[in-house]
Amino acid sequence: MFVLAHLSDPHLGPVPLPRFRELTGKRALGFVNWHRRRFVRHRPEALEALVHDLRSAAPDHIAVTGDLVNIALEKEFPPAREWLAQLGSPHDVSMVPGNHDAYVRDAIEHPASHWGDYMRGDGIGTGAPHSRSGPFPYVRRRGPAALIGLSTALPTAPFLATGKLGADQLMRLSDALAHLAHEGLFRIVLIHHPPAAQSRNRFKRLIDAGPFRRLIAEYGAELVLHGHNHVHSLAWIGGPEHRIPVVGVPSASAAVRGDRDPAGYNLYRIHGAPGRWRCEVTSRGLKAGHPGLTELSRRALLQ
Ligand SMILES: [Fe+2]
Repeated sequence: MFVLAHLSDPHLGPVPLPRFRELTGKRALGFVNWHRRRFVRHRPEALEALVHDLRSAAPDHIAVTGDLVNIALEKEFPPAREWLAQLGSPHDVSMVPGNHDAYVRDAIEHPASHWGDYMRGDGIGTGAPHSRSGPFPYVRRRGPAALIGLSTALPTAPFLATGKLGADQLMRLSDALAHLAHEGLFRIVLIHHPPAAQSRNRFKRLIDAGPFRRLIAEYGAELVLHGHNHVHSLAWIGGPEHRIPVVGVPSASAAVRGDRDPAGYNLYRIHGAPGRWRCEVTSRGLKAGHPGLTELSRRALLQ
């Protein structure tokens, strides 16, 4: 049995005061937005309760699907690294960046330079470090599972939170999925933007979700995990042998009385072998009137 925990979008605060040259148009809007609304929605005590609960579940590995920071100021990155280190070592925690981690053009290098060892492959079958998509996709093998990390993070204009994989990364992903299927591993794809259905909000969507779904339908995967929408969600993509669950989680720091789901995370229990994998997901989260996190649901995804 291999146990994986998945959390996302902690949006760690507080946002430090930007230097004057860091206050570009989009950052200025984001900074005001944080102080007007977001710091009420994202609470450190909610995140602390979640991390405490997750730790007591003692998972074998932890996946974090982006949006660790808010407006990608350089000063936001070292505390986010400390938070990652509190979750676990780079060997035990795999992350992919979100749109807030690459908020503006001058932040594009920050995730790799501060968190690079949490987003690095094992070696074989990983993306070439100097490819156009950087180190993505990366591949890590842990027990019966292979974690495949993708990046959809790119700087966008104000009011846009779109993401894109790009042709280069998609091509490498198809190679990785084929290779890992051959190895008989349980393939878990990590991606920040939800790829399963057409997003209702075109300003927040994954631009190449269609090509991603077609690729997954052709090459298969056992599980796709994402964040970005800050709600619990389950969708499916038809695959070559079985349909593939695509699961989203709320923001790991969401207050109980916010406008989206309160802080929560998922635990996956994986066992079996190629052709007869079993995977059960347990959702845990904050609930009004309950101290700490409680079990919200439990269901079999692959059986
Ligand atoms: Fe987010």
